[in-house]
Amino acid sequence: MAAPDPTTSKSLSGLFGVALREATERRLLELIRKNPIPRHLAIIMDGNRRFASAHGMLTAEGHVRGKDKIEELLDWCLEVGIRVLTVFALSTENLSRPPEEVDDLMDLFEKSFRDIAVDERVHRYRIRVRSIGDREILPRRVQAAIEVAERATKDYDAYRYNVAIAYGGRDEIVEAIRVLAREVRAGRLDPEAIDAKMVSEHLYTSDLPDPDLVLRTSGEERISNFLLWQSAYSELYFSDVMWPGLTRLDFLRAIRTFQTRQRRYGH
Ligand code: FPP
Ligand code: MG
Repeated sequence: MAAPDPTTSKSLSGLFGVALREATERRLLELIRKNPIPRHLAIIMDGNRRFASAHGMLTAEGHVRGKDKIEELLDWCLEVGIRVLTVFALSTENLSRPPEEVDDLMDLFEKSFRDIAVDERVHRYRIRVRSIGDREILPRRVQAAIEVAERATKDYDAYRYNVAIAYGGRDEIVEAIRVLAREVRAGRLDPEAIDAKMVSEHLYTSDLPDPDLVLRTSGEERISNFLLWQSAYSELYFSDVMWPGLTRLDFLRAIRTFQTRQRRYGH
């Protein structure tokens, strides 16, 4: 492809646009670094299929672009110093999508866990990888890939990367209630001793801070059963872009908005 011709107004505006975007990103990053960073960022990655159809792609390609975006996202999180990242990859409801689509997603999850286990960044930054959700219902090959990634990173603790697959917030709370009820029945627990801290300790996220910021893409403004208990006090940020279309600038804006809200309301 020929280099853009800077003498035409079209290329000039293109070049100007890039320079402006880069300057905005630099300014945002500077501001972000001077202010409190969310410790735990949780993301509802929505809009893969709409992105695909808007770009004349097959649904499967939209999900592949979604996976590629997570690769970029990891860099962005490391760049600003976010310690805990949790992404919603598949809800229990999503499992009732057409079998071919679910199969494609399972292939992607398998590949993603195998890739992450040998990702240079994971070892350099000591990122512990985990999957949360009902993994028993996942195909054996996906479970095996998850185990590979979890085993390869089990001793790391500087950063955390959690992937919610076959996850449902209500199911998670119901399971915690079951465990506590069994303890009560066995006479080992006084019902009056049950408090919010004890419930938190029985969730997948027992060793993690609650999310400070929950970001959802695609313009939908719902929590959709994601980290229900844990997001009780989280800031919510909704972006209109489809997940695969999220840019570094969108990401930085979300973090900066979180910071300005914190300042304003003094949480
Ligand atoms: C939401 O878009 C996305 C999903 C249900 C799947 C999420 C999967 C990925 C981002 C790819 C791979 C993930 C990992 C962890 C490797 P949608 O399908 O609901 O699209 P729509 O909202 O436009 O219908
Ligand atoms: Mg969706």
